[in-house]
Amino acid sequence: MSSRSGIRRLLQEIPGIPPHEAEQLAAHVLAVERSRLYTDPVEPTDDQLEALRSMALRRAAGEPLQYLIGWVPFLDVRILVGPGVLVPRPETEYLAQTALEVWRSMGAPEPRVAVDVGTGSGCIAAGLALAEPRLRWIGLDISAEALGWAGRNVRENGLDSRVDLYNSDLFAALESIEFPEHGASLVISNPPYVAHSEAPALPRDVVDHEPHEALFSGPTGLEHVERILGEAPRWLSSPGLLALEIGETQMDNALSCVRETGRYASWEGRADLAGRPRMVFART
Ligand SMILES: C[S@@+](CC[C@H](N)C(=O)[O-])C[C@H]1O[C@@H](n2cnc3c(N)ncnc32)[C@H](O)[C@@H]1O
Repeated sequence: MSSRSGIRRLLQEIPGIPPHEAEQLAAHVLAVERSRLYTDPVEPTDDQLEALRSMALRRAAGEPLQYLIGWVPFLDVRILVGPGVLVPRPETEYLAQTALEVWRSMGAPEPRVAVDVGTGSGCIAAGLALAEPRLRWIGLDISAEALGWAGRNVRENGLDSRVDLYNSDLFAALESIEFPEHGASLVISNPPYVAHSEAPALPRDVVDHEPHEALFSGPTGLEHVERILGEAPRWLSSPGLLALEIGETQMDNALSCVRETGRYASWEGRADLAGRPRMVFART
């Protein structure tokens, strides 16, 4: 059997996986670019074929593709992921890019310290630390397991000297660490924002495998969003920017909450790349 027909046949043999996912797994196992699977086929060893078959079966049973591959690209960094941490999503990458643009448009205000609340894999802090060398980052998360992944990602990307990580319930750890007297000029967060009642509507591979403390936020899904909007001004400099990802039905509630704090000078809701209202930017 030629390697080309071998891979084709193997991919066809495995039910329940879209072809593009099967190809991504094959490219991962064979350590080649996906585009070269058919144009420049390598002869898979028996071990590689067995590894591919076993991963494909795990994927068909619902394990997230990214956990099987072990990493995702985020901005210009490689983010390791696996059980215990949320897989970074493209909309969060867009939030991070847009937040940096807005922060720069404010004149890159001092102090050039940024806080990533609910850092998870550390994707936002690591990605933006690489993109903007003037910023020093503090990543906070309540999950020790997520912080383990974040620590690996910060180290693997050579960013340890610019990203510090702390176990924290939202901003609480900032009370006891060295933190600029006048606050951070950027706070960014992709918090949990799914209502518990929405769990049945989530894809099985998400709800069965990704950590629930990364997904769910009380009966309305707004618990974390409301707390962050209320607490962030205490930690922001003036001028300072809060950038927040929210669920697509939450904009009205989130903007009312911004208004009610009376602590922000200006704010706006923005759409993600799919046109859904998913981002809040509020300036102190
Ligand atoms: C939606 S995930 C975002 C992870 C990462 N920032 C990303 O965008 O991929 C939310 C993160 O918030 C963390 N988290 C949940 N409740 C928290 C709390 N009260 N304080 C701090 N972090 C919290 C979760 O552990 C999880 O890592």
